[in-house]
Amino acid sequence: MKRPFFYDITLRDGNQSLKKPWQLSEKEIIFNKLLELNVQAVEVGFPASSEMDYDACKHLASVAPENLVVSALARCIEGDILSAVNAIGHSKIPRVHTFLTLSPFHMKYVLNKDPMEVRKTAINAVSFACEQIKKVNKNGEVQFSVEHFGDCLENLDFVIDTLQEVVKAGATTINLPNTVERKRPRVFLDMVEKVYNALPKDIAISAHNHNDLGMATATTVESYFSGAVQLECALNGLGERTGNTNFYEVAVALYNSGVDVPVDLSKIYETALIVAQMSKVEIYEKAPLVGPDALAHRSGIHQDGALKTKDMEFGAYRPIHPSLIGRKDDEKIGFTSQSGKTAIFEIISKAGYPITIQEAIRLAPSVKEAAEKVGELPTRNIIDIYFREICNIEGPFKLLKFDHAGDGKFILEFKHNNKEYSLTGNGNGPIDACMDALKQSGFERTLLHYKQIAMDEELMGSGAMAMSVIHLEGENGAKVIGRAIHKNTAVANVKAIFNAYNLIYKN
Ligand code: KIV
Ligand code: ZN
Repeated sequence: MKRPFFYDITLRDGNQSLKKPWQLSEKEIIFNKLLELNVQAVEVGFPASSEMDYDACKHLASVAPENLVVSALARCIEGDILSAVNAIGHSKIPRVHTFLTLSPFHMKYVLNKDPMEVRKTAINAVSFACEQIKKVNKNGEVQFSVEHFGDCLENLDFVIDTLQEVVKAGATTINLPNTVERKRPRVFLDMVEKVYNALPKDIAISAHNHNDLGMATATTVESYFSGAVQLECALNGLGERTGNTNFYEVAVALYNSGVDVPVDLSKIYETALIVAQMSKVEIYEKAPLVGPDALAHRSGIHQDGALKTKDMEFGAYRPIHPSLIGRKDDEKIGFTSQSGKTAIFEIISKAGYPITIQEAIRLAPSVKEAAEKVGELPTRNIIDIYFREICNIEGPFKLLKFDHAGDGKFILEFKHNNKEYSLTGNGNGPIDACMDALKQSGFERTLLHYKQIAMDEELMGSGAMAMSVIHLEGENGAKVIGRAIHKNTAVANVKAIFNAYNLIYKN
């Protein structure tokens, strides 16, 4: 199979649909992005449409690299064709793209002409375009488009006969637009296949699909497998009404199908953002590949699968690894009432706070309850719950006072339910002394492990802070973790012990 040939129409079909069509300098920015993407052809505009567009086409043709096909649109009218030739004829490989409808409906109600008369106009225009472009550039080419090809099912034989004549007149690319997407892709693909089989094999067949029913990507991708080597696409799917076929989706779908795609896919994401900004057509939340939500997972099952396969090229819930299209943001885990412990663990860890999966399980009911009211919870709210329920555990034990009394002694005052205790603990530092005082009060526990974690100043916002982490032996030998944060490390240690005690003695 031949490699696909990407013919970009952002600067013509995309541009003509903008509320404020681009001027030269804006077109040049997009043009340069197209070169970075390594497209094979760019339709730079419709020179006869305005002086501004003529000038833009002329300029882009003059700066185009040698291997790029530079195309310009022209109706089957001599004036349009001459305008296109003058605007792009000096590029290395100029292509005049002329078009005419052959659909019965359009010939009757829009052109108001007899089909044979329309056929003649098309043939004459192609022949004129060939003659004119070859006069100025021996590499010049002509492309002919059957506007509304998708509506030509009932007169397909007439269309094919016309195209055979058009090819004889000199067209080397035949473009088949689904100018308005009305039918299912299979019907269109059968028509593409028929044209492909009827024309000489050195003629390039091209697909140009609009997205009125949202199937343009599918139709374009499948057109390639039905014989269309040239694929006409637009950046961000810009184009009349609901747009043209989205460039990125076609390129990635073909790549995923094992096709050798001659495009630099890693430039996609950055290009999409620039095009959105310049066209003032926002990328919608759910847009495939480049939309803000394209990497978002909100259900617990999806979050679990996504996180387990996060660094793999093939992900459980995504079509590609985001780096393929130059997207640097990770898969996004958004916590809603549909989410679970894995999401809590991921969100808290990513925010820079230590947490175990057991702690995430413990937090889940409160975080879910908050999400039921709010919807997707901002990270800050989840962290607040973490502080409240992990670093400040309510329970039967309440620390009232902890003071150094000199000579390895510490005074500990606390409440257990309603009973108050005041004891002096001995030990090698505050942790030992606190554990000793608790032992004297009849609440003996074994200290398994202790550590301090330096907390990022940026996270805590109030100078240097450390988190004390205390592991105690709970019921049946289970490890229980108590955490606490305080400016004073001795207080942080004792608070962490009390948090662990409240977990052990919670009932
Ligand atoms: O959609 C269409 O039919 C077109 C033609 C001008 C090619 O854009
Ligand atoms: Zn179009």
